[in-house]
Amino acid sequence: MNPGWLHAVTLLWALCPSTRGQCDKSSETSKLNLSVTYELPTFTADFPIENMVTLEGIIYVGTVNRIFALAPNLTKLSEYHTGPLLANETCGRTPTGTGGGSRVDNHNIALVVENIYDKGLYSCGSADNGVCRRHVLDDEDMSPKTVDEQVYCFADKVRQGRGQPSDSDVVVSPSGSQVLNVESNVIKFFVGNSEIPGLEKVSENATHPHTLSLRKMKTSQNGFTFFSNHSYMDLIPPLRGKYYLRYVYSFHSGPFTYFLTVQRVSRNSRAYHTRIVRMCSSDLVIRRYVEMPLECISTDKRRRRSTEDVKVFNILQAAHVAKVGSDVELQKQLKVEEDDDVLFAAFARGKPNSPEPTPNSAVCIMSLKHINNMFKMYMQRCNTVEDVYKRQIIY
Ligand SMILES: *[C@@H]1O[C@H](CO)[C@@H](O)[C@H](O)[C@H]1NC(C)=O
Ligand SMILES: *[C@@H]1O[C@H](CO)[C@@H](O)[C@H](O)[C@H]1NC(C)=O
Ligand SMILES: *[C@@H]1O[C@H](CO)[C@@H](O)[C@H](O)[C@H]1NC(C)=O
Ligand SMILES: *[C@@H]1O[C@H](CO)[C@@H](O)[C@H](O)[C@H]1NC(C)=O
Ligand SMILES: *[C@@H]1O[C@H](CO)[C@@H](O)[C@H](O)[C@H]1NC(C)=O
Repeated sequence: MNPGWLHAVTLLWALCPSTRGQCDKSSETSKLNLSVTYELPTFTADFPIENMVTLEGIIYVGTVNRIFALAPNLTKLSEYHTGPLLANETCGRTPTGTGGGSRVDNHNIALVVENIYDKGLYSCGSADNGVCRRHVLDDEDMSPKTVDEQVYCFADKVRQGRGQPSDSDVVVSPSGSQVLNVESNVIKFFVGNSEIPGLEKVSENATHPHTLSLRKMKTSQNGFTFFSNHSYMDLIPPLRGKYYLRYVYSFHSGPFTYFLTVQRVSRNSRAYHTRIVRMCSSDLVIRRYVEMPLECISTDKRRRRSTEDVKVFNILQAAHVAKVGSDVELQKQLKVEEDDDVLFAAFARGKPNSPEPTPNSAVCIMSLKHINNMFKMYMQRCNTVEDVYKRQIIY
């Protein structure tokens, strides 16, 4: 890594052409035998499933009002009720005016596992004032605890129905969040909090979560701390509550942590696009930060060149990063080796001037090597155009 260019990085995009993942329509028809009946294990939740993580073979599922632990064959091992909650059952005091005496549903905004201090699961719900609950999973006799055995609000001085969480303990946003655990010798939580205009009922006393932040778990295991006041950044005040920014996916690969967002093309544009954000996982402050647009383009090669059908898919719907694996054809196409990371990204064409998808969609596969090369070219070629975030850049 060349520290020269990494240090000189800031927000670079608008002037540059987009990174394009090329998709070709498959000409081969599927060889799947549709008359075979597959017997697959199933699990049916009573509420919509919102998040899923695995730790040592056990599958943890976050739904509205429930957290489940499932065996590899999908039989239920344990269950924890996260809602519906009365105001005095939420983590911290719910600001007056919300809830009252009625129960509110608790949506699972984030579900994260941790494996360094003790085995633990964090579930962050919409009713808990931005605070996450920690489910201790470690047990002396090696089989993990159930998800309901030892659970507490993960915030200093905050109990159910009591206390105001501090800035560093307010992790997630009601508009949605991406929480990523990057483990080295400390556990770092990278968090991207979405801002969806009109969705959040802004209550004056609720602590507003930072837009992008990284924090560590306290060794006392009762909350988080920021490494410094450079460990977070926020949308600039004029854009607060007015600028659409949605964190769709997060992952780490090699020395980097990435976020994928859907947001407005610029402060004054009415159009929307997808961006990829990259930071150094080893940094304790948000310093080596860079972002660029990402889109998925399909070219229909069956048509004659003059009428070549080029479709741009601009709104990311879902993504997943995995090793490319033993698919030799895919390795050849992407020019990667078996244990290289590749990004599978499902895009849709957006409605005009809207983040809403149309039924037109495509999946692009991009190697992280290629994405990192694009970042390198971006940083060498482009100028900063506009900064929608309030933050301090340290060199
Ligand atoms: C598809 O599967 C069915 C049931 O196993 C089998 O009878 C049939 O021969 C298979 N067809 C092909 C083309 O492999
Ligand atoms: C599923 O796995 C659990 C735990 O490993 C086991 O107790 C149970 O018998 C299995 N159920 C089925 C239907 O295989
Ligand atoms: C919470 O409030 C309800 C009434 O609103 C009351 O019945 C219940 O006992 C309270 N729970 C706790 C733990 O204080
Ligand atoms: C906000 O907090 C202040 C001081 O703690 C309190 O007086 C006020 O009533 C609170 N407002 C709301 C809407 O909860
Ligand atoms: C960050 O902290 C330093 C001192 O620790 C202080 O001088 C600076 O004003 C702070 N910056 C912000 C944005 O709070």
